[in-house]
Amino acid sequence: MKVRRALLAPLCVVLLHAADPPAQPIPFSHKTHAGAMKLACKMCHPNPDPGETMTIAPPAKCMDCHSAIKADSPAIKRLAGFAKDGRDVPWIRVYQIPSFVDFSHRAHLEKGNTCQDCHGPVAQRDQLSRETDISMGGCMNCHRAKKASLECDFCHELQH
Ligand code: HEC
Ligand code: HEC
Ligand code: HEC
Ligand code: HEC
Ligand code: HEC
Repeated sequence: MKVRRALLAPLCVVLLHAADPPAQPIPFSHKTHAGAMKLACKMCHPNPDPGETMTIAPPAKCMDCHSAIKADSPAIKRLAGFAKDGRDVPWIRVYQIPSFVDFSHRAHLEKGNTCQDCHGPVAQRDQLSRETDISMGGCMNCHRAKKASLECDFCHELQH
């Protein structure tokens, strides 16, 4: 089992890196905003109570800057349209797990796990793609390494 995992690991890395980033409705760049401008992740990903999801800030938040910055660019005009109508941008999800899995961002952040541990070097990316493994195997690998539980009912409700 150990040997087999060691052989498969490099192959999985190659496959994961090959995943193309989804075409987003607006060409948002983390490299520009979180990298060059060093904006804090939580400015746009606030982690509201009870802390399970991070959420993505609505277009009105973007317009704090973009009502003045690049206001004539076609992408920003589209963004302004969403803000004016009070609609969210239909961003294509990058990281998503099925709803039958228990997962809390806040619980992980409180234990010292970082955004990078699970999402890679986001601030260096113009476009995000799923470049880390958040399958059950990916959860298990880190849980094993950090001595967190591997019990089935840690992440899944028991069926009755
Ligand atoms: C322990 C791993 C882990 C850590 C640490 C982590 N994430 Fe996530 N993130 C995930 C998983 C798994 C999902 C998919 C969750 C789902 O579908 O319910 C996700 C989803 C997201 C989403 C999509 C919205 C949502 O909440 O489902 C955003 C945005 C996000 N993460 C940002 C961040 C930021 C910013 C940080 C650091 C402050 C961070 N994440 C830390 C694993 C992690
Ligand atoms: C703190 C200010 C600030 C916030 C908040 C902000 N941006 Fe930006 N954004 C900038 C700056 C500065 C640039 C770079 C402008 C340039 O290239 O001269 C930029 C560039 C962009 C561009 C490229 C525009 C083009 O045509 O070149 C897009 C698209 C964009 N931002 C979308 C967003 C979205 C979506 C949000 C909200 C989730 C957001 N921005 C929030 C300051 C901000
Ligand atoms: C100015 C706003 C802004 C900042 C700052 C920002 N993000 Fe984002 N983030 C977005 C937007 C908009 C999206 C949706 C478009 C995309 O996926 O690129 C997003 C998407 C994501 C996703 C993918 C969510 C999904 O669909 O599963 C992750 C992970 C993420 N951000 C992590 C981070 C981390 C980590 C930081 C800090 C290093 C950060 N973000 C800083 C606006 C921001
Ligand atoms: C980067 C490492 C890492 C990854 C990846 C990771 N975890 Fe964890 N997880 C931890 C650590 C560390 C703890 C804290 C264990 C403890 O209590 O000491 C934890 C705790 C948990 C808890 C209990 C916390 C709570 O009260 O909610 C659950 C449930 C959980 N993880 C599910 C998941 C799932 C599902 C995934 C994959 C989508 C995942 N984890 C991926 C490191 C990780
Ligand atoms: C650390 C968290 C974690 C633990 C522990 C865990 N799982 Fe999972 N499990 C997941 C995640 C995340 C998924 C969803 C993977 C995906 O679809 O991307 C999943 C999916 C599944 C699925 C659905 C598979 C499919 O094809 O859709 C089954 C069945 C399952 N787990 C059974 C188990 C059993 C049995 C155990 C105990 C031996 C267990 N899990 C322990 C996180 C966990």
